[in-house]
Amino acid sequence: MRNLKIALMAMATAAVLFVPANAETTLKDAYKDAFAIGAAMNAAEITGRDTKSDAIVLSQFSSISPENDLKWERVHPTPERYDFAVPDQYVAFGQKHGLYTVGHVLVWHSQTPKWVFENKDGAPISKDDLLARLKEHIFTVAGRYKGKIKAWDVINEVVGDDGKMRQSPWYKIGGEELFVKAFQWAHEADPAAELTYNDYNIEYPNKRAEALALVKRLKAAGAPITTVGIQAHYTLAEPDLKFLDEAITEFAKLGVKVALTELDIDVLPRPGAGATADVSLRLAEDPKYNPYVKGLPEEVQAKLTARYAEVFAIALKHKDVVNRITLWGVTDADTWHNGWPIPNRTAYSLLFDRAGNPKPAVDAIIKAAKP
Ligand code: XIL
Repeated sequence: MRNLKIALMAMATAAVLFVPANAETTLKDAYKDAFAIGAAMNAAEITGRDTKSDAIVLSQFSSISPENDLKWERVHPTPERYDFAVPDQYVAFGQKHGLYTVGHVLVWHSQTPKWVFENKDGAPISKDDLLARLKEHIFTVAGRYKGKIKAWDVINEVVGDDGKMRQSPWYKIGGEELFVKAFQWAHEADPAAELTYNDYNIEYPNKRAEALALVKRLKAAGAPITTVGIQAHYTLAEPDLKFLDEAITEFAKLGVKVALTELDIDVLPRPGAGATADVSLRLAEDPKYNPYVKGLPEEVQAKLTARYAEVFAIALKHKDVVNRITLWGVTDADTWHNGWPIPNRTAYSLLFDRAGNPKPAVDAIIKAAKP
């Protein structure tokens, strides 16, 4: 008996030794009093084929975003056809597990079929026709998930990298009035939903200035905008995080919430270096831009860890206005950085490695919750 007790105690001690620090805490629990922590899900995760990633989502995250499946080209590929098969499963997953479920995206110039902007002859459609098409789309998609999708990215990337309004087909045909109407229709379709203007690089002063001015104009024109989404597609060096800190302060002054909607940190070298999320960017493959095929060197891992912790520490400082941080994917096996802006790379942008194990950044982020 006594021996058994000693043996059990020895086992318990050994077990304690092998439990990684903070294993008793999860990301979502560590931040539950501050903001939601989300992950973008791909179709394999949404449909339950990737059980390993699903388990990570359920244990670590309190919010989900659809990486691609609610984009126009997927959900409304041809004028007469909507495809809700995967989106319905996405929303059901969120409902079943009580996750703050995000909709991405209603108005964006990328991953939107050309037909949206053209008549049958391929000529640009009139403003009235484009507005009618958008209204129908918003009522159909946002209406279908009323009360279930809690936040919609209504407009995405409408400020250009030059700091001026982006000359997208939406803007060129519909003007800013189209953006105002998009918010109004999304609000009609689901009066309770949080409604976001989402963009990348709006931390940087030049793009931020136009983004701030835009939010003011949209509000003045009667758009029920509740939130500014900072995508937060970062590299190890860019942007200087003081710009994130400043941007959150300045957006909050306009009376909106701020969310980091697509956070990831690319450790791979890029020609041209800077942070961007321009999905149309395609650069040539070259082994010198894919240096960590065999694994991430410890000193790079350490930099990634420190940078993630810093992003969360800044958000925490602003927890009164920041309501969510969403990672743009679950594990490194699925980060979009494996294929963008250069194809076939081994990227390390997320919080869980290719095998689904937490990277040191997870621990550092949890520690950052209790400064
Ligand atoms: C990306 C997805 O992650 C990729 O799988 C897809 O091929 C391209 O789009 N800004 C956005 C996201 O708003 O929708 C983009 O997602 C990344 C940049």
